[in-house]
Amino acid sequence: MPNIDWNKLGFEYSPTACHVRATFKDGKWGRLSLKKASTINMSIAATCLHYGQACFEGLKAFKCKDGKVRIFRPEENMKRMNDTAKYILCPEIPPDLFIEAVRKVISANMDYVPPYGTGGSMYVRPLLIGTGPRIGVAPADQYDFIVLVVPVGAYYKGKIKPVDAIILNGYDRAAPNGTGHIKVAGNYAAGLHASNIAKKMGFPIVLYLDSQSKQYVDEFGTSNFIGITKDGEYITPDSKSILPSITNKSLQQIAKDMGIPVVRRQIAFREIAKFAEVAACGTAVVITPIGRIVFGNKILEYDQEKCGPTLKKLYDGLTGIQYGEIPDRHNWLMEMK
Ligand code: PLP
Ligand code: COI
Repeated sequence: MPNIDWNKLGFEYSPTACHVRATFKDGKWGRLSLKKASTINMSIAATCLHYGQACFEGLKAFKCKDGKVRIFRPEENMKRMNDTAKYILCPEIPPDLFIEAVRKVISANMDYVPPYGTGGSMYVRPLLIGTGPRIGVAPADQYDFIVLVVPVGAYYKGKIKPVDAIILNGYDRAAPNGTGHIKVAGNYAAGLHASNIAKKMGFPIVLYLDSQSKQYVDEFGTSNFIGITKDGEYITPDSKSILPSITNKSLQQIAKDMGIPVVRRQIAFREIAKFAEVAACGTAVVITPIGRIVFGNKILEYDQEKCGPTLKKLYDGLTGIQYGEIPDRHNWLMEMK
């Protein structure tokens, strides 16, 4: 058993027993293999290094109340990874290969799945990168599909304690017809500068408005934006430049199941001051409530002490399904044998 203090886990990389890898070469995918080393060898001219040909995903596996390990909606990540792959001209991952890779890497690292009751989970990170060499800008002729795992706790310290967000003038994450709707590594590089400024100012999370008009809410650098209106509606932005979040999609279903109306539409920045509750949602951040949003000299304030009641109900609904405490009525969980 690895020597891990499960209750102290944050969202940090740590090596595990192994990862899985398959290579695409000569027009076809090779077999998956388990690799103990946590390093890879590639051409110094690999397209992932020079031209950002890198797609990634994030999903989680949970040690459930009954002791079994279950993976949350892996097919959704498989579809999204292939949407990213198509856009940046990488070969798609055959659905069975994706699922087999996720199962195989979890199975080989079972000792690293945080125990039930610690609030931790196993973060699964699929990665598809161009490893063949090019010096002109063009897609590679060789790719590696890697799935690694990391035991994780909360992304932002304090789990479900509100964090403060900032909107920074002069920084965009995604262009109107750019790559915000897919999960390419470059989107995160594009956000590092703003996120560094925000952190230095004491804001752990950056909220982005749409890059064109700066009137509408897009999403956070790490996650989607959700709000609860004073009328008790679940509201979330409709935008071409945001990542279609699997957590958001799941929460919308859970909200509907609870009789909470769900609205997806453009959300003007001036509207959100009136929202009763605001949060970030995503695999890594789960539901992270937002206490304040600062934009220039405007400060929007929500509950700064605790998660609002509707978001808490949704949080409990989602994590209850993930940890096997609530029936999985939509068949979202895939059990590990
Ligand atoms: N938006 C961005 C920019 C993200 O990086 C993520 C995380 O993957 C999300 C939203 C949430 O997506 P999901 O719920 O599928 O993890
Ligand atoms: C995830 O939620 O899985 C992500 O990839 C977001 C990232 C900021 C860790």
